[in-house]
Amino acid sequence: MDAEILHVLGARPNFPKAAPVIRALDALAIPGLTQQIVHTGQHYDTLMSDVFFADLGLPEPVANLGVGSGSHGKQTGALLAGLEDLIAERRPELVLVYGDVNSTLAAALVCSKMGVPFGHVEAGLRSFDRTMPEEINRIVTDSLADLLFATSPEAIGLLGQEGISPDKVHLVGNPMIDSLFAALPKLDAAAMRARFSLPERYGVATLHRPGNVDDVAAARELVEAVNEVSRMLPIVLPLHPRGRATLAEAGLVATPDLQIVDPLGYLDFMSLVRGAALVLTDSGGVQEETTALKVPCLTARPNTERPITCTHGTNKLVTPATMVAAAKEALSAEAEWPPEGPPLWDGQAGPRIAHVLKRWLAARR
Ligand code: UD1
Ligand code: UDP
Repeated sequence: MDAEILHVLGARPNFPKAAPVIRALDALAIPGLTQQIVHTGQHYDTLMSDVFFADLGLPEPVANLGVGSGSHGKQTGALLAGLEDLIAERRPELVLVYGDVNSTLAAALVCSKMGVPFGHVEAGLRSFDRTMPEEINRIVTDSLADLLFATSPEAIGLLGQEGISPDKVHLVGNPMIDSLFAALPKLDAAAMRARFSLPERYGVATLHRPGNVDDVAAARELVEAVNEVSRMLPIVLPLHPRGRATLAEAGLVATPDLQIVDPLGYLDFMSLVRGAALVLTDSGGVQEETTALKVPCLTARPNTERPITCTHGTNKLVTPATMVAAAKEALSAEAEWPPEGPPLWDGQAGPRIAHVLKRWLAARR
């Protein structure tokens, strides 16, 4: 058999989800099967992309479409055009898409129109909030996918309610956590404390959701709350480029207790999070990583597509109005967290996905 699996990656959260799948497929050494990455170029800064290839040991992409930034229409249009040409040229046996970014949606649409089967890693997450661009991307991608790899059990019921056959859905665990567990021996919280001159107890923050960082008034409330928490606990905020200008307009300034730094590479970021007493975030992946590391996490969002991080982890949803009290509670000696983590977040999601793919490929022969 001569067949290619093409992994479509483009944005920061895609990289740690794909690395374990690629590694596990390599380990199976299926005769005649090759795999390649196409990088869409949705994220392009060194600290949003290249550093992840180095930190996660990802192979060089076979192509970079260089789509860059733009409005949803312009970016998705460029993604569709670039991916269509690439898939016409390579005719992969299967495409794998990851998560819920615009690169994921575009690859799903192109594959469906071109009759190329594709699998969706991280299927079945729903925030039920269609003001989030990611929710639209999730619904469309799942509705078109041939293989759906779910990270948590509730996905199966949610996909069923949308009419997706359970035969296509595979509960495999969370490849994001595979990457984290594989990195654990390399994580060095003490080095990060030294780099940022932090005491033993410190916090980490990340902010990039449009609902939090695109509007000055919303951003101002959040900035005030983060400032107040930083007076209890010094915070490092590796800032996503999206929110820089608006957050600055909303009053975000560096202080001795609130260090605002460039985005961090994967190993540096996870080192910092591993040693943290508290994380404030609006990231999807960070909700999961803090749950796996048992680091208290406050998520500044009205909802989450990852409720399992609240029921089986350290995550709590907060508003700017409730963040400070929630931080005090999370930092107190009485804070309690569910004893059981999410099922199958055990570092073996990549191998489970690879085995499903092996069976699927064999059935096509
Ligand atoms: C995207 C995803 C979001 C994900 C996030 C992870 C979509 C719709 N959104 O949001 O789900 O949580 O990535 O980080 O796909 N920029 C740079 N350098 C870069 C990349 C982006 O400066 O390398 C800036 C540009 O000003 C750009 C803005 O960030 O306009 C937004 O980038 P974009 O990829 O459109 O969306 P994200 O907010 O990164
Ligand atoms: N991350 C990182 N450096 C940072 C911020 C995030 O390495 O400065 C990693 C971390 O593993 C996180 C992932 O990038 O889970 C995706 O992050 P992001 O918040 O951008 O995306 P989301 O998960 O919200 O889509």
